[in-house]
Amino acid sequence: VLTTILITLGGYLLGSISGSLVLGRFRGVDIRAMGSGNAGGTNALRTVGWKFALGVVLIDIGKGVLAAAALPALAPYLSSNPSDPLLLASLAGFAAVLGHIWPLYFGFQGGKGAGTAVGVILIIAPWCLAPMLTVWLVTVFGTGYVGLATILAGLSLVPAMWLIGPEPLPPVLGALAIALAVLLIFTHRANLARMRSGTENRFEKARLIKR
Ligand code: G3P
Repeated sequence: VLTTILITLGGYLLGSISGSLVLGRFRGVDIRAMGSGNAGGTNALRTVGWKFALGVVLIDIGKGVLAAAALPALAPYLSSNPSDPLLLASLAGFAAVLGHIWPLYFGFQGGKGAGTAVGVILIIAPWCLAPMLTVWLVTVFGTGYVGLATILAGLSLVPAMWLIGPEPLPPVLGALAIALAVLLIFTHRANLARMRSGTENRFEKARLIKR
């Protein structure tokens, strides 16, 4: 149990390394005071530029990958009887997403967790990525709303997990999919409110369908 707690805590500490806030320190910008105020790749692109945003996305996805892949690999060194690797990967990965949203090193004000969640899914349930990416791209290019695209991609994680995943699906994977989908809706609640009031940021240039 101690090993499981340590690995989960490690995931949280790793997730707290926010790409946009770390790179922003080097550039002398805090994107939480710019654009949508979100510490994530989308707002990095909106407020600083594509190179900065690319670095942000790579760090945020990378820490999800590290949390889900590397941390559970440490378990055999910490315990003679470690928990199931899939459980450890799910706990560390989910904790990394929580760390990204509420980072220890940045006043608990981080991003919305999408990039980090992608990194975690890449390791734990890679079969979900193609359907999620499809939903995300269609929504971004159809509407220009990245927040909406991320919510819908997050929701599509649940059916993708069950329909394409191994049969029977390990319960921990089902739980992870539901937890991530609910968390993404929660972190995007301000985007939903802005869409309702017609003030949500839109990438007009990305819209292929224009009315
Ligand atoms: O993951 C963040 C994205 O879905 C929305 O970002 O800055 O438009 O709130 P933003």
